Amino acid sequence: MKLFTTIASLVAAAEGAALGHGMDLQNVLQSVISIAQSHQSTKPPNFLFVITDDQDLQLDSVSYTPHILKHMRDKGTFFQNHFVTTALCCPSRVSLWTGRQAHNTNVTDVSPPHGGYPKFVDRGFNDNFLPVWLQEAGYDTYYTGKMFNAHTVDNYYSPYINGFNGSDFLLDPFTYSYLNSTYQRNHEPPVSYEGQHTIEVITKKAMGFLEDALEGDRPFFVTVAPIAPHSNVDPMALNHGDGERQVISMSAPIPMEKHKHLFQDVKVPRTANFNPDEPSGVSWVQGLEQQNQSVVDYGDFFYRSRLQALQGVDELVDSLVTRLEESDKLDNTYIIYTSDNGFHIGQHRLPPGKTCGFEEDIRVPLFVRGPGVPEGHVQNAVTTHIDLAPTIFQLAGIPHRSDFDGTAIPVTPGFAGPRHEHVTVEFWGSSVFEGDYSQIGIGGSTMMPNNTYKSVRLLGPGYNLYYSVWCTNEHELYDLSTDPYQLHNLYPSSLRSEEIEPQLLGRGISHTIKRLDALLLVLKSCKGSTCIKPWETLQPGQSIHTLGEALNERYDLAYSQQPEVSFNWCDTGYIIEAEGAQAPLTTRYGVPWDIWV
Ligand SMILES: *[C@@H]1O[C@H](CO)[C@@H](O)[C@H](O)[C@H]1NC(C)=O
Ligand SMILES: *[C@@H]1O[C@H](CO)[C@@H](O)[C@H](O)[C@H]1NC(C)=O
Ligand SMILES: *[C@@H]1O[C@H](CO)[C@@H](O)[C@H](O)[C@H]1NC(C)=O
Ligand SMILES: *[C@@H]1O[C@H](CO)[C@@H](O)[C@H](O)[C@H]1NC(C)=O
Ligand SMILES: *[C@@H]1O[C@H](CO)[C@@H](O)[C@H](O)[C@H]1NC(C)=O
Repeated sequence: MKLFTTIASLVAAAEGAALGHGMDLQNVLQSVISIAQSHQSTKPPNFLFVITDDQDLQLDSVSYTPHILKHMRDKGTFFQNHFVTTALCCPSRVSLWTGRQAHNTNVTDVSPPHGGYPKFVDRGFNDNFLPVWLQEAGYDTYYTGKMFNAHTVDNYYSPYINGFNGSDFLLDPFTYSYLNSTYQRNHEPPVSYEGQHTIEVITKKAMGFLEDALEGDRPFFVTVAPIAPHSNVDPMALNHGDGERQVISMSAPIPMEKHKHLFQDVKVPRTANFNPDEPSGVSWVQGLEQQNQSVVDYGDFFYRSRLQALQGVDELVDSLVTRLEESDKLDNTYIIYTSDNGFHIGQHRLPPGKTCGFEEDIRVPLFVRGPGVPEGHVQNAVTTHIDLAPTIFQLAGIPHRSDFDGTAIPVTPGFAGPRHEHVTVEFWGSSVFEGDYSQIGIGGSTMMPNNTYKSVRLLGPGYNLYYSVWCTNEHELYDLSTDPYQLHNLYPSSLRSEEIEPQLLGRGISHTIKRLDALLLVLKSCKGSTCIKPWETLQPGQSIHTLGEALNERYDLAYSQQPEVSFNWCDTGYIIEAEGAQAPLTTRYGVPWDIWV
């Protein structure tokens, strides 16, 4: 309808112009038709975005979802080096929907004061995040499922979440209640779905919104955010801990009846880091006891429950893609499948959970299919959740925002733009243990405090590294090319000059560490393009883009003088005063740094 209106007005304008200038009407009509055709072929693409909750990549969950493999891996591209920037639901989702690192959203936790929906609103993001931007760009937007934590039956209307033409959100405290969920549609009151499985409920809602989206004239952005395979939380079982604080009791996810018999012999992959004989890692991880057989068996049960619960999501994706196939819009629709953070079970002796910087927690599945996206392709580029909003902008033809901390990812072969070899990983607060046997935290709680750290994950030509600095000023350095399961911390406990220094990347390890530390110093407080091109801050005008280039011994002196990443104390939020040096030196004795380097 709109297109015809456009053509009609173009014809009228062209006729007027042609008459005025004595042009041939035939030619004018020809150009009008080609304008109309190009208008049609450049109609902005639609998006279907599916985001699961706590789905791992490293524990192989994707292999158990045949429809997702068929529709997404075989028909699209698998981004095998895709990372989240904070391994916890709410901060990770806020980073995803704003395109910013958590240190630039300052939504760093799942609940107030440092996180959750109220913090998202306080920080002004309810008027300034992806769905709002997409509506402004002409999109119809729909969302069903979990949006944020601490978005509750008591605060959902103060204010309502902006940016959606249709929404039906899961609300706390019933978000993770598989058999008694509460959803809240548009501006209507919450509805309890007691006795129905949450995946059944969301499937109906998602199919309804997809129908609405397909009927509309405008391009659409539909998000479906099921909670599987997150742990089940029964709100009626909230108990009280030592203090007044409520302790949330998390149990294995509950699959649909029809999936409960599946995978009876499947166990958590027994990788080298699974319940290892030797403890390793930062002190609190090193202090975990080896799991006995009951705990290991429970981990396997928990793992199977997750795979079973994911079957509902697998069928949901099948229904959504099948409906798109039946429509005439599949050819102009990008489908994106991912999760908010990863998950570990038993690795490094950890009970079920996330919040760590290990591969299991920070790597998540990412599949993209759509116009121009290679089918059955595996992409190696390093990509992150803060790259997704810039990617959607680029695909939709919306100009890049300067407050994006990420950059569009290469979904189609011609996709240009700066790439990066690093991922900035940040965390503030406690590690949380889930399931039975999770009361191994301080004082028998399910929490381990001082889980505040900054890290950089680096994948480049000839290196595959993870470097982290903790609020306790402990350090970790893993060379994943020789130690893929992160069992050997290479960070030296002390370096004495009379000893022969171990080598890393062909240099004494202290030189490599200096570069990694300076890189992390930039990344932990970067904004916008600094987050994408951190070496330009460290070595302005030197055309350094990689660790390999920065390792040149010419720069040793300059790097040796940079302040180190450190913490003054362990805090639970992003408190600048607790976080040591904020920025690298850029001048020395008033002389610009690049003269020195
Ligand atoms: C982040 O938020 C906390 C409150 O949650 C506040 O105390 C802190 O100053 C904020 N950090 C920055 C850098 O604005
Ligand atoms: C969706 O919402 C936007 C912004 O309010 C509005 O302009 C658009 O017309 C709506 N689309 C439909 C189909 O109602
Ligand atoms: C289910 O949730 C509702 C609130 O939405 C509550 O009133 C009811 O007691 C719950 N049912 C069970 C079995 O926990
Ligand atoms: C195994 O370890 C758990 C958690 O520490 C403990 O509760 C349980 O009693 C242990 N079981 C056996 C058989 O030792
Ligand atoms: C957490 O770190 C602080 C230092 O900031 C220390 O005083 C405290 O003992 C640590 N707590 C635990 C449980 O390790």
